[in-house]
Amino acid sequence: MHLSKILFVFLISSILLLASNPFKKLDDKKRGYIGVDACTMCHKSEKQGKQLDIWKSSKHSKAYEVLLTEEANKIAAEKGFTTPAAKTEACLVCHASGYNADASLIGKKFKVEDGVQCETCHGAGADYKDMKIMKNREEAINNGLVVVEDIEKFCVTCHNSESPTFKEFNFQTSWDKIKHSVPAK
Ligand code: HEC
Ligand code: HEC
Ligand code: HEC
Ligand code: HEC
Repeated sequence: MHLSKILFVFLISSILLLASNPFKKLDDKKRGYIGVDACTMCHKSEKQGKQLDIWKSSKHSKAYEVLLTEEANKIAAEKGFTTPAAKTEACLVCHASGYNADASLIGKKFKVEDGVQCETCHGAGADYKDMKIMKNREEAINNGLVVVEDIEKFCVTCHNSESPTFKEFNFQTSWDKIKHSVPAK
C-alpha cells in the first residue's frame, strides 16, 4: 500500500475510534461535579418534567449499589480481579461517575454512590449549572453540558457485551423506561 494511503487509513480509523467513544467527546476541560441534588433543584417539578423521580426509580440510581452485592463481587472475581467490584475500575467505568476525578473537582454534595447519575450522561455541571447559563443552550454546551445527538449510540457505550451480565439491549423499550423530557408548554 502507498504510504499516503496507509496514513489516510490510520487517520480515518483514529477518527472513528474517537467518534465511537462518546465519553471522549465530553470536553476535555476538567470540570467540577455538583451531584444530583444540585441539578434537581431545578429539574424535579411536574412542570419541569420530574427528572428526579424518573431517575430515582430507574436502575441507574442503583448502579453503584449493585456493585456492593455478593453477585457483583463474584463476577469481579471470576473475571480475575482481586479487588471487590465497587473498588474495581473496570466495573466502575460503567456503574458510576467521579470515582477517579481529582478531589478538588468533587462538590460537597456529589456522591459516587448515586451511580449512573445526571452528570454521568450530561457532563460535570459546576460550570453550566447557573440559571443564566442553563437558560441559554449554546452557553450551557460551551460550559460543559452534553446534549446527546444519537441517543441509542450513547446508551450502547455501556449497554454492550463488555458488560459481564449483558444479554441484549432493546433501545426503544429501554429509552421508554428512563426518558425524562420537559413537557411541552
Ligand atoms: C438554576 C436552575 C438549574 C440548575 C441548577 C440546573 N438546570 Fe438544567 N436547565 C435549567 C433550565 C431553566 C433549562 C432550560 C430548559 C427548560 O427546562 O425549560 C435547563 C436545561 C437543561 C437541559 C436540556 C438541554 C437541552 O436543551 O437539551 C439539560 C440536559 C439539563 N438542564 C441538565 C442539567 C443538569 C445535569 C444539571 C446539574 C449538573 C442541571 N441541569 C442544573 C435550569 C437548571
Ligand atoms: C455510564 C454507563 C451507562 C449509560 C451511558 C447508560 N446506562 Fe443504562 N444502565 C447502566 C448500568 C450500570 C445499569 C445497571 C444498573 C443496575 O442493575 O443496578 C443500567 C440499567 C439500565 C436499565 C435497567 C435495566 C433494564 O434492562 O431494564 C435501563 C432501562 C437502562 N439502563 C436504559 C438506558 C438507556 C435508554 C440509556 C441511554 C439513554 C442508558 N441506559 C445509558 C449503565 C449505563
Ligand atoms: C461496558 C459497561 C459495563 C461494565 C464494564 C460493567 N458493567 Fe455491570 N452492568 C452494565 C449494564 C449496562 C448493566 C445492566 C444491563 C446488563 O446486564 O447488561 C449492568 C448490570 C450489572 C449487574 C446487575 C445484573 C442484574 O442481573 O441485575 C451487576 C451485578 C454488574 N453489572 C456487575 C458488574 C461487575 C462486577 C463489573 C466489573 C467486573 C461490571 N458490572 C462491569 C454495564 C457494565
Ligand atoms: C443514562 C443517561 C442519563 C441520565 C442518568 C440522565 N439523563 Fe437527562 N437525558 C439523557 C438523554 C439521552 C437525553 C435526551 C438528549 C439530550 O437532551 O441530551 C436527556 C434529556 C434531558 C433533559 C432535556 C429534556 C428535554 O425535553 O429537552 C433534561 C432537562 C435532563 N435530561 C435532565 C437530567 C437530570 C436532572 C438528570 C438526573 C436526575 C438526568 N437528566 C439523568 C440522558 C440521561
